[in-house]
Amino acid sequence: MKPLLVLGVESSCDETAAAVVRLADGRAEALSSVVASQAAAHAPFGGVVPEVAARAHVEVIEPTVRHALAEAGVTLKAIDGIAATAGPGLVGAVMVGLAFGKALALAGGLPLMAVNHLEGHAVSVRLTADVPYPFLLLLVSGGHCQLLEVAGIGRLHRLGSTIDDAAGEAFDKIGKALGLAYPGGPALERLAEGGRAERFPLPRALAGREGCDFSFSGLKTAAARLAERCADEADRRDLAAAVQEAIAAQLAERSARAMALYAAQHKSTALRFVVAGGVAANRTVRAALEAAARAHGFSFHAPPLAYCTDNAAMIALAGAERLAAGMTDDLDAVARPRWPLDEASALASPTHKPGRKGAKA
Ligand code: KG4
Ligand code: ZN
Repeated sequence: MKPLLVLGVESSCDETAAAVVRLADGRAEALSSVVASQAAAHAPFGGVVPEVAARAHVEVIEPTVRHALAEAGVTLKAIDGIAATAGPGLVGAVMVGLAFGKALALAGGLPLMAVNHLEGHAVSVRLTADVPYPFLLLLVSGGHCQLLEVAGIGRLHRLGSTIDDAAGEAFDKIGKALGLAYPGGPALERLAEGGRAERFPLPRALAGREGCDFSFSGLKTAAARLAERCADEADRRDLAAAVQEAIAAQLAERSARAMALYAAQHKSTALRFVVAGGVAANRTVRAALEAAARAHGFSFHAPPLAYCTDNAAMIALAGAERLAAGMTDDLDAVARPRWPLDEASALASPTHKPGRKGAKA
């Protein structure tokens, strides 16, 4: 099959991103990946402000796309298709990138792929490594925490998901309680260096319980209360280490359960475990997951840090794989603030009550 060049656009939260990915014989290569972060614009508010995000995307989307094309050394004429994130995310933010992607597709007479942001994270590992389908995926980001069987592009089956907060949300909220700037995850990891985790025993929700669901709200409340009583920097460091350890332990314990289930269903295929999403950038989390994978006979794969957090290369790759499979979308594709990857499982056993717009996650 002829190589495909796909331009990806991502704007679902607080990063405006564009990238060009080349897909040839199932192997991907990112020719460029540009990320314009709005973190500084949201930092004074301690979290992402939807209206601020949408406006900031509008301001930088065009130069970001130009930059990605220039860095890849191509013009729109060389592109075979446009991939744009169509959700889930902040609806105003998603609409900016999706509308821009549609305009490019229309202007260039190119196919459009309306990509689920989570599917982007799911394939992100394939940008730099040859990880064939199927694989078991732990997707851990600021908005999501779920275990999925990834059988192929567009074929994902959910094994478990958080019943309250996402792991990244727990990092961010506890980081805030510890007085750290947004986003709390990376700042908490830095603070935890050299900390003594054993000083603060924290709740281990669902440990030993059946199933592959997650829960972080008890840990969040307990840690926020302890943070109020931290007297000095050493206390804060030890508490940060304890929080990081507790989150890593839960992610590893629940993933190990999913590995056992997955292994029983995939007796004749190689067992691969992939972690993706912003929280996969955390070294303690990675080490705990890698140990669990090794103990269960799985190979372990994680994207490089730049592809763990939000980027458009992963959206371009998901789009390229879709294009190769003939899965394109019409120009009337809508922005979806809620868009579960596995809609059948999400509707059959919703982890959140379905809202007006359907199952959340
Ligand atoms: O995937 P991502 O960039 O955006 C979403 O789709 O949510 O993930 C962002 C999340 C934030 O909650 C951030 O605090 C967390 O990933 N994160 C980390 C680290 N780097 C990013 N959490 C813990 N340790 C890190 N090093
Ligand atoms: Zn993300």
